[in-house]
Amino acid sequence: MNSRISTLGDATSSPLSRRQFLQTTSSAAALGVVAAPFVASRSVLGANERLGVGFIGVGGRGRYHLDVVLGMINQGESLEVVGISDTYGPRKRAATEHAKAKAYANYHELLADPAIDVVLIATPDRLHVPQAIDAIRAGKDVYCEKPMGHWSQFALSRQFYQETVKLKRVVQIGNQGNSNVAWKQVRDLIQKGAIGRPQHVQAGYYRYGDWGERMPIADPNAKPGPDCDWEGFLGDAPKVPFTVDRFFSWRKYLDYAGGPCTDLFPHVLTPFISLLGLKFPSLAVASGGIFKYDTYDREVPDTFNMCVDYPQKLSIVLVCTLANEFPTDPAIRGDEGTITMQGPAFEGGFDSVTFIPRKGEKTVIPGSKPNTTLLHWQNFLHCVRTREKPVSDVEFGLYVQAAMNMSMLAFLNKKVATFDTDKLDIVL
Ligand SMILES: NC(=O)c1ccc[n+]([C@@H]2O[C@H](COP(=O)([O-])OP(=O)(O)OC[C@H]3O[C@@H](n4cnc5c(N)ncnc54)[C@H](O)[C@@H]3O)[C@@H](O)[C@H]2O)c1
Repeated sequence: MNSRISTLGDATSSPLSRRQFLQTTSSAAALGVVAAPFVASRSVLGANERLGVGFIGVGGRGRYHLDVVLGMINQGESLEVVGISDTYGPRKRAATEHAKAKAYANYHELLADPAIDVVLIATPDRLHVPQAIDAIRAGKDVYCEKPMGHWSQFALSRQFYQETVKLKRVVQIGNQGNSNVAWKQVRDLIQKGAIGRPQHVQAGYYRYGDWGERMPIADPNAKPGPDCDWEGFLGDAPKVPFTVDRFFSWRKYLDYAGGPCTDLFPHVLTPFISLLGLKFPSLAVASGGIFKYDTYDREVPDTFNMCVDYPQKLSIVLVCTLANEFPTDPAIRGDEGTITMQGPAFEGGFDSVTFIPRKGEKTVIPGSKPNTTLLHWQNFLHCVRTREKPVSDVEFGLYVQAAMNMSMLAFLNKKVATFDTDKLDIVL
C-alpha cells in the first residue's frame, strides 16, 4: 500500500493542495501567498547600509564562510561580523577571537540580536531547516548551507519555503556552484537547440577516500556541559545518549546526515535542475550501500546511485563511489547531440564544455573555476539589498530537496518513490 512519507520525523506537516502550492510558487509576484509586509530586522536597510552578519555553526564550513565574509569586509563591502554561535565552546571562542565578534550562548540568543540582519547556517544537516525557519521568523535573511534539509524533512522543507515567501525573506541555499556563470554556456547551448530536446543527464562524484565520515574527534574526553551543548546539537533528532563520535563525526549517522546523496549530490544535481528548468521529479529509484568503509558504527552509505525521472520525459542518473577518483565526464544527451564537461568540480565549475553534435565537428569551449562561495555571497548580499531572488533561492532549493529525499527514501525503504503533484508530497 502506498504511504505518504514526508511526515516522517516532522510533526508540522500540512500538505498543500496543488492549487494552493501554485498560488505560493511561480515567480514571486504571481505567487498569491498573502505575504506579510516586508520588515527588515532593522528599521531601515539602505543600499549601502552596513549589514550585520551572524554565524550559526563555525566548524569546517562555517569557518570558511567566516573568512570569505572577512575578506569581503577587507575589500570594502559594507558588512560587519556581529556574532557567532556554536554548540562546541572551543570552536566558538576561536572564531569569535578571530573575527573580534560577540559569542552567544545559543542560536536563539543570536537571532534575538537586532544588530544581525543576515545569518549563515553551517550546522549539521538536520538543524538547517529548523534554524532557518526560526531565523526568517526573527526577520533575518538566510544563507543556508546545503542540503537545504535532512532526508527525513521534506514537509518541513516545504514549510520553510512557504514561510519564506509569506514573510518575504531572502534565502540562498549553499549550492555555490550554481553561481558560476560557466553554466550559462551550457544553458545557452541547450536553449538554442544545439542538442535538440534534452532527455538524459548522467553525472557523478568520485573520490578515493571519504568526505568526512571519519571527521576528527576534536576532544575524545568531551562531555555534555557548557562547552558541549548536546541538546542543542540534537535539535529534533532522536534523544540518544551522548558519544563523541556522534557529536564530532555526525556525517556517519542517519539521524543527522545521509551520505553521498545528501552531502555531495546537491552540488551535482543543482546546476542541471537549474539549467533544464526542472521542478518536482515524477519517480526516483536508488541503490548502493556501505561498500568501502565498514566501520563499527557507520550508518550512511558510501556508494550511492540514483535515477530520477521528470515529467518532461527526462532522466537524471547520478552515481557516487569512493573506490577511486577516476572521473567520467558528465553528459547531457538530446536527439541532436551531447554536451559534456571536463574537469568538473561541481562546487566550483569545470575546465571546459564540449558540444558533440550527432553529425559534424565537436566544439570545445573553455570553462572556469572561480571562487564560487564568494560569488554566491555576493549574489546573496545583492538580493538582500534589492529583495530580488538569489540564484539558489528557496523554491529552487525545494525542487532539489524533493529529488534528494525521494532517492534517500527509495534507497532506505527499497521501494520506488513517486511524487503526488496534487498533494505535493512524496509517496512510497
Ligand atoms: N557548500 C559546500 O561546499 C559545503 C562544504 C562543506 C560542508 N557543507 C555543509 O555545511 C554543514 C556543516 O558542515 P561542516 O563540515 O562544517 O561540519 P562541522 O561538524 O565541521 O561543523 C558544524 C558545526 O556546527 C556546530 N553545531 C552543531 N549544532 C549546533 C547548533 N545547534 N547551533 C550552533 N552550532 C551548532 C558544531 O559544533 C560544529 O562546529 C553541513 O550541512 C555540510 O553539508 C557545505
